[in-house]
Amino acid sequence: MHPPVAWVTALFCLLIVAVAEPMVPALLQPLLDKGFKQNSFPIWMVPAALIGLYTIRGLSMFIGQVCIAKATNQGLLKLRVAMFERLQDASLKLYRQQNASTLGNTLVYEVQTGAQMLVGSCMSLFRDSLTLIALIGYLLYLNWQLSLIVALLIPSVGFLMKAMSKRLYGLTRQNQAATDELAYVVEESALAYREIRLHAAQHLQARRFESLGRTLERLTMKMAVASSGITPLTQLFAAIALSAVISVALFQSQDSNMTVGGFASFVTAMLMLVNPIKHLSEIAGPITRGLAALERGLELIENTPQEVGGQYRSVHARGHIQWENLGVRYQEDHPWALREIHLEVLPGETVALVGSSGSGKTTLANLLPRFVDWTEGDLKLDGVSVRDWYLPDLRRQFAMVSQNVVVLNDSLAVNVALGQTPETDKVLRCLEAANLGDYLRSLPQGIDTVVGHNASSMSGGQRQRLAIARALYKEAPILILDEATSALDNESERMVQEALLRLQQGKTTLIIAHRLSTIESADRIVVMDSGRLIEIGNHASLLAKNGAYAAMFKLKSVGHAQAPVDQH
Ligand SMILES: Nc1ncnc2c1ncn2[C@@H]1O[C@H](COP(=O)(O)OP(=O)(O)O)[C@@H](O)[C@H]1O
Ligand SMILES: [Mg+2]
Repeated sequence: MHPPVAWVTALFCLLIVAVAEPMVPALLQPLLDKGFKQNSFPIWMVPAALIGLYTIRGLSMFIGQVCIAKATNQGLLKLRVAMFERLQDASLKLYRQQNASTLGNTLVYEVQTGAQMLVGSCMSLFRDSLTLIALIGYLLYLNWQLSLIVALLIPSVGFLMKAMSKRLYGLTRQNQAATDELAYVVEESALAYREIRLHAAQHLQARRFESLGRTLERLTMKMAVASSGITPLTQLFAAIALSAVISVALFQSQDSNMTVGGFASFVTAMLMLVNPIKHLSEIAGPITRGLAALERGLELIENTPQEVGGQYRSVHARGHIQWENLGVRYQEDHPWALREIHLEVLPGETVALVGSSGSGKTTLANLLPRFVDWTEGDLKLDGVSVRDWYLPDLRRQFAMVSQNVVVLNDSLAVNVALGQTPETDKVLRCLEAANLGDYLRSLPQGIDTVVGHNASSMSGGQRQRLAIARALYKEAPILILDEATSALDNESERMVQEALLRLQQGKTTLIIAHRLSTIESADRIVVMDSGRLIEIGNHASLLAKNGAYAAMFKLKSVGHAQAPVDQH
């Protein structure tokens, strides 16, 4: 069923439900006026009419609700998919501004509760206001003077609802933000569970969690007070209306020609007004809550800029890279992370970047797949500015192996062939070439083994080699190795090193490493300091120059081998 068809069917059914409502008091009038006199109409007609009425009403209600559920869930799925797609092509700034749990919350829970609340209450809004209209119409038909009194009281109920819902809306937004923060503490504790245990920081986390929980509790209480107040207040209004009507009716009854049946029917219909009015007054809460939740999802779609690439397309780059007077600043008021970078890497060349931690090596490499954007100057690949490259084509040119290897919760094969359909032979070849053959044979299900959440069952060296296998599989012309071996022990480093050498064959390579053994053989070595290039040359010429590189070499390590690792 198409969503528009479902909506129209649902609305039609609800219309029937609403019209059926005044039929009950309408049946009452002839019953009271004529039913108790002998032979005025066949007695079987009363139960038959009642049963018929409730069958039609019930059937319409059933069909209407099923149709609405169908339409909503289809809409929800569409919204979710749209949001997830936006995450995939969002400008990378998004990931610096929002954490994983906030995004997860928005996509998974907020949208769901939002849609459900909104649809449930919209349905009630539609059904109850139609019922209200039908009942009021019937009241007017019976006795318009009496009905005027009822009509006068309805706007005041509306005003009350509006004031209350405004307050609820504000509270709901605050509540969402507090829930996100609470979820973030849990996420953090799961990510850093080792550090937290080791440093006995549990109480700190617990205190943060508790204080956030308390904030949330206060907000929720405020919301509960606001929404609980609405119902008694509106019921009070209904009672006032009822008393007014009854008093006037009793006055009128002396000189009016209203029958007993007519009066009973009027009061019944009027009492039946209370239910829809009550529902309508309770609707403000869920509608505002639902709106606030959905709005958050829509904001994510609307306010997240997309990544913009260029038009230049090329399947296979030659691998000629030029940084031209390039400068990078992460934020306006931050110092320059890179400044006046002039560097050219020729196709097939291996260039090593060395320098102390924070000197800008990772930033320089991350510019290539446009994980970082530069502030001034230009960066060209094959003579075309990287900004003019069509993004999927640009990113196809690079294989990256860095220290933090992220593994998806899927099979080994899917992780190696990441983004492509795994070809068994090729996966096996790549794993073998990445020195993971022995590991593979130890797995019960081979390449179909699910490696689990971020591969916590694999050692650092194994994960590193998995990243190498992934890079081999990609067959990209340019290779970026960012401290791929610095966290490994000697044994795994030797195995990773071997695999890396295989990977580098015939490729343009940019290699960032702490250890000399890795870079001595590079065609050129670039020494960086505080975002600038300070020396360029090969191992021998730099030693002969007796400058910064030679000084590092004397310390037997390039840069600070023990420096904490940063993976920006
Ligand atoms: N995402 C980021 N936001 C702000 N500053 C950053 C970011 N990434 C890196 N930096 C800063 O840029 C400078 C260079 O960092 P980086 O390229 O990671 O150096 P290296 O890889 O040589 O250790 C550092 O001063 C670092 O603090
Ligand atoms: Mg780095």
